Amino acid sequence: MRALLRTKTARRTLRPIADLVDQRIQRQIRRSAANRTDDGARREIAELKRELAELRNRQRPLELLLDGTGRGVSRLPGQVHLDRAVDELAEVTGDRAGSERNLAQAFRLLAALESLGVGRIAGGTLNICGKLAAVPLLDPPNDDILEIGTLYGMFGAALIRMVERAGRVPRLTIVDPLAGLQLQPGTKESADPTGTPVRMAAVRTNLALAGEAGAAARIEQGFSEDPELRAKVSDRSYGVIVVDGDHSAAGVAADLEWAEQIAAPGGIVVLDDFGHPKWPGIEEAFDKHMVTETRFEFLGQVANSGYLRARP
Ligand SMILES: C[S@@+](CC[C@H](N)C(=O)[O-])C[C@H]1O[C@@H](n2cnc3c(N)ncnc32)[C@H](O)[C@@H]1O
Repeated sequence: MRALLRTKTARRTLRPIADLVDQRIQRQIRRSAANRTDDGARREIAELKRELAELRNRQRPLELLLDGTGRGVSRLPGQVHLDRAVDELAEVTGDRAGSERNLAQAFRLLAALESLGVGRIAGGTLNICGKLAAVPLLDPPNDDILEIGTLYGMFGAALIRMVERAGRVPRLTIVDPLAGLQLQPGTKESADPTGTPVRMAAVRTNLALAGEAGAAARIEQGFSEDPELRAKVSDRSYGVIVVDGDHSAAGVAADLEWAEQIAAPGGIVVLDDFGHPKWPGIEEAFDKHMVTETRFEFLGQVANSGYLRARP
């Protein structure tokens, strides 16, 4: 029988059957390989899902340190925004290495103060960090700083720290009505996302976080256009003036006029929320002011703040 099957004729006759068997075996092999792959992939996906859930769980508490919950704005800037802020700051200050260093240090300071302090610092992360980073790099002519509009005093505390890091000895004066909430003409007054009232006690607590210079800060409660308040605060020439009070065109115009009188030669004026679509009055007042006989020249913009220097 075996000999018969080995004959040429028998092989030719049996080939279709052998081919059919071959095909079936191949199909079976492919199917079982595919089944194995499906099972493997399914196991892998399940494992990845488990790991992802675990990572999300672990990440959430870290996010809580920096996200917008309880402060309204997230403190998690994207790389593209960080890079842009470094470029803008380097352009305004002429110091790229210092810009990178100061922005990173300002970011850590912001996170620390908002974690430990009362209330918050107002505005977007890179706008705040840009201001904190820029002031010491612009090398103001003296260490007297005036902040018009402080909200919780936390930005003032942060600015003290940043200026001290540059070896300076800041003396801060603050002007704000401290009226329980943020006052802005033309906008609806609403409770702060932090839930903390805007009061002197909050400002003092935050300034205490900035050590001796914070505790020694002079706070004048009232409106920057008030003549009596102005007379008291105009007792010196300021190396730095932060204009961040009344954001209306009239309010900013009045603060810029005052700044003309009290800025030291070479002094820096920080115009907050400059170019911000929510506050068109700021650019409007600036444009009008810059065509008058001003001592100020425009240095540039970082995020949403404009920087001016009084001619020496
Ligand atoms: C945008 S917040 C200041 C934010 C603060 N500089 C910061 O960086 O966190 C504006 C503050 O200015 C106050 N304000 C409004 N009108 C003012 C005025 N005419 N003079 C001084 N402060 C004023 C508001 O009540 C509020 O506390």
